[in-house]
Amino acid sequence: MVFADLPSPARQTELLNLVRQDCGSCHGLRLEGGLGLPLTPQALKEKSPEALKQTILYGRGGTPMPPWNPFLTDSEAGWIVETLLKGLP
Ligand code: HEC
Repeated sequence: MVFADLPSPARQTELLNLVRQDCGSCHGLRLEGGLGLPLTPQALKEKSPEALKQTILYGRGGTPMPPWNPFLTDSEAGWIVETLLKGLP
């Protein structure tokens, strides 16, 4: 578990929309990769969930991956990682 507080159901819906639209614009409509790396369960399963969460919160310097901490709490970023690892519903 890389999150402490489960987002509310309404917030989960917002986060899923964010992932599909904003993340999808770089990572691909089906998150199979584009400008950004693929974010499918297959692509992420060997990676450290904590490191993935840090990448979401702080971006990756020198690459187009932006920091999302102005928009996401630590727990929300962690919930997104868990959701990506399971596969988007
Ligand atoms: C402007 C384009 C862009 C947007 C928008 C974007 N990303 Fe990225 N992302 C990238 C790029 C490019 C990389 C690869 C960086 C590198 O070369 O290491 C990346 C890397 C990542 C990684 C690391 C993947 C790995 O295998 O190590 C994760 C996780 C990630 N992004 C999640 C997200 C999430 C979640 C969102 C939406 C909240 C998002 N990204 C939005 C461009 C983007």
